[in-house]
Amino acid sequence: MFAARTIGHRGCAAHAPENTLAALREAAKRGIAWVEIDVCLLRDNTPIIIHDDSVNRTTNGMGLLIDLDWRQVADLDAGSWFNAKFASERIPRLDDALTEVQSLGLGLNLELKIHGAEGERLVEAIMPYLRDSGISRDEILISSFDHAALAALHAEAPGFAIGLLYGEIAPDWRGTAEALDAIAVIGDYRKVNEAAIRDVTADGRDIYVYTPNDPKAVYAQWRWGLDGVISDDPQKFL
Ligand code: G3P
Ligand code: MG
Repeated sequence: MFAARTIGHRGCAAHAPENTLAALREAAKRGIAWVEIDVCLLRDNTPIIIHDDSVNRTTNGMGLLIDLDWRQVADLDAGSWFNAKFASERIPRLDDALTEVQSLGLGLNLELKIHGAEGERLVEAIMPYLRDSGISRDEILISSFDHAALAALHAEAPGFAIGLLYGEIAPDWRGTAEALDAIAVIGDYRKVNEAAIRDVTADGRDIYVYTPNDPKAVYAQWRWGLDGVISDDPQKFL
C-alpha cells in the first residue's frame, strides 16, 4: 500500500473547515497519517487549496477562481462558514499547505481539481512549489479526475506517484493506469464493486475509495482487498 488505510478528506472535513491548515492539524491531532486536499488555480496562476470553482461556499467572499488573483483571496475568512472559532483560517496557498503537511509529518494526497481547461497550466504552476518543498516522492500521491492533467504531470515529472480518480471505475482503467504508470485507482465507495477491487489489486495497484463516513459502508470492500478510505471523519476508520 502506497498511502495509508485511512486518509483525511479535505484534511479532516468533519471536524474543521475543509482544505484549511486547521483541517490538516485536526487530522494530525486525531492520529491520521495521510490527508487529501484539493489544489485549484487562480487567474494569476497561484495554486490554492480549495475544492469548488468559486470562493462562495467556503469563504466570506464571492467570485469564480478564474476571475480572482491571490491578493483578492488572501485575506478571505475560510473558517467562519464552518464554525466561528475558525474565523482566523485563510485559504492556504499550495506552499503553505506543503509546509504544514511536512511539519506535521503527514503524507499528502494532492488532488488536482480542474474546473475548466486549465489542467496543463495547473501542472506547470504546481511544479516549482513541489520542487521547492523538497517533499519526498514517497510522501505524496497526486490524483485527479482529469487524466489529461495527470498525463501532463507524468510527462513533466515521471517520478511522482499517480492515482487515477473515477466515480465508477471505467472499464478501460487498466490501459490508462499503464500509460500513466499509476500506482493507485480511486473510486466513489458507492460504485466500487468486488470485481473492480480484485482486478486492480491483482494488477499490482492500490485501490482507495472516497468518501465513506460510516465504517459499516465499506466492511465488504475491506474483505475484497480495499487498500484505504478517504473520509471526512477518518478517525472512525482507524
Ligand atoms: O480525492 C477524492 C475525493 O476528494 C474526490 O472528490 O469532490 O471530494 O474532491 P471531491
Ligand atoms: Mg478531493
